[in-house]
Amino acid sequence: MNNKINSQRRKFLQYSGITAATIATYPSLLQAKNMGTSSKPSPNFHADVEIELTQKAVKVPIFAGPETRVWKVFGKVLKGSPSTIGNLPGSYLAPTLNLQKGQKVRIYLRNKLHAHSILHWHGLHVPAKMDGNPMYAINHGETFVYEFEVLNRAGTYWYHAHTHSVTAKQVYSGLAGLIIVSDKEEQALDLPKGKYDIPLVIQDRKFDRQNQLVYGVNMMQRMSGFLGDQIMINGKPDYVLPVEKRSYRLRLLNGSNSRIYKLAWDDGSPVTVIGTDGGLIEKPETMPYVMLAPAERRELWVDFSKKPIGTELTLRSIPFDGASMHGGMMGGMGGGMMGRRGGMGRGMSSGRSLPLGGDYLVLKVKVVKHAKSNSSLPARLTPIKPLHLRDAANANKARTITLSMRHMSALLNGRSYKMNDIQPDEVIPVNTLQLMAFDNGFHRSMGMMAMPHPMHLHGEQFQIIKREVTPRHRAAHATISEGLVDSGWKDTVLVMPGEKVSFLKPFNDYKGLFMYHCHNLEHEDMGMMRDFLIK
Ligand code: C2O
Ligand code: CU
Repeated sequence: MNNKINSQRRKFLQYSGITAATIATYPSLLQAKNMGTSSKPSPNFHADVEIELTQKAVKVPIFAGPETRVWKVFGKVLKGSPSTIGNLPGSYLAPTLNLQKGQKVRIYLRNKLHAHSILHWHGLHVPAKMDGNPMYAINHGETFVYEFEVLNRAGTYWYHAHTHSVTAKQVYSGLAGLIIVSDKEEQALDLPKGKYDIPLVIQDRKFDRQNQLVYGVNMMQRMSGFLGDQIMINGKPDYVLPVEKRSYRLRLLNGSNSRIYKLAWDDGSPVTVIGTDGGLIEKPETMPYVMLAPAERRELWVDFSKKPIGTELTLRSIPFDGASMHGGMMGGMGGGMMGRRGGMGRGMSSGRSLPLGGDYLVLKVKVVKHAKSNSSLPARLTPIKPLHLRDAANANKARTITLSMRHMSALLNGRSYKMNDIQPDEVIPVNTLQLMAFDNGFHRSMGMMAMPHPMHLHGEQFQIIKREVTPRHRAAHATISEGLVDSGWKDTVLVMPGEKVSFLKPFNDYKGLFMYHCHNLEHEDMGMMRDFLIK
């Protein structure tokens, strides 16, 4: 091992708090190139808004007692309306960026962490260089300047660290926040606004007795993904949302590393969905529960006007068959069984256990007062331009990406992530529509390694056209299928064991590298990530 790698390795160990034994299973980390170089604003880009985001290690008060060490993003508006940034006081979450469609945005990312890092704008269609590819990670003291126009329609997007091999740890430590995009079309609708439009970031965390974050990464947890034992909403434990007797728009983001939620109201009311990853859907959809995989967003419309004051309502995650377990070592990978078996490292030492696919409370809502106004649910929300198969450049031959896990690796078409390693099937002509599919053991059984994968593609959003499930997995799939929302624009899609999901994705406007990966962040860091080259 040469000195440079040695010192990088030492640096990483020093600041990450991850043990050397863990590193040994991250071989790619040792080859990680740290391309850190500051970038400069371009004189030809005339920004409507300018924001400074500074990443720092700080302590925040989450519980009574000792404060919690986190990695926090601090925001400052340098140009434009002060409301461009909404801070969440006391939260470890990054500030919310409130943007308008058509705005030209310049963001100065200043890295004051003793670690290299880079931010990605999840769901936004921006030029390749502005997309937060891990190759642009910057070091302590450096600045990366992002410049892009907001091309996306109104919706709930987010941003988070996307640093090679350590995305999971960095997001877990706090490097993630919301982006709310608004536009004229949305503003014209009579949807709940202002304090009746509430973003809710759902994450699971684990804390030790000193209130410090615990990130357990033994081999088993890497395969299943990290599962915490404490649900946090907007960075707060035991969150209670006080509401008036009226309707609300709740914007849910699953910002968890790997946890999949199956959300239902405990009083048996159906869930009314009005939006998804890429904003509003055409018309409200009502379902008994709604699935929310990592990185996905769902916007719910909830009417509390008929509930008596004092009513308490909870949104729970209810049981589902989360993984295909056929008696192998992955049995019980949900965490519950691992917890009961014990001895899986200090990450599993807590008394509480929230197994994947278990039954637990996510959010408590309390009706506290009468309302002066209300809004009624529009029967039609927004027109969505459908993509057509006949317009695809490859209508007869889908670009299929197989998902697989074996020998402690997670692969896409049999490959794991490597920087600048574009294979011929990863080159896509710009300004084309592509028929694509994720195949999670639909054509070839993945055996005991079959796991759900929330698959994400950078760049423009896509439309789902078909789901197919092998007979062997249909019963398990039926425990989640009524809660899928496949309409509207998507950037992340849950692909269950034995399932194949087909979709149409446009690759317009921008050339360069755009990633596709599993948004189970432990899978991503394990290599379940690749680049497309658009040219
Ligand atoms: Cu939200 Cu490439 O990630
Ligand atoms: Cu995955």
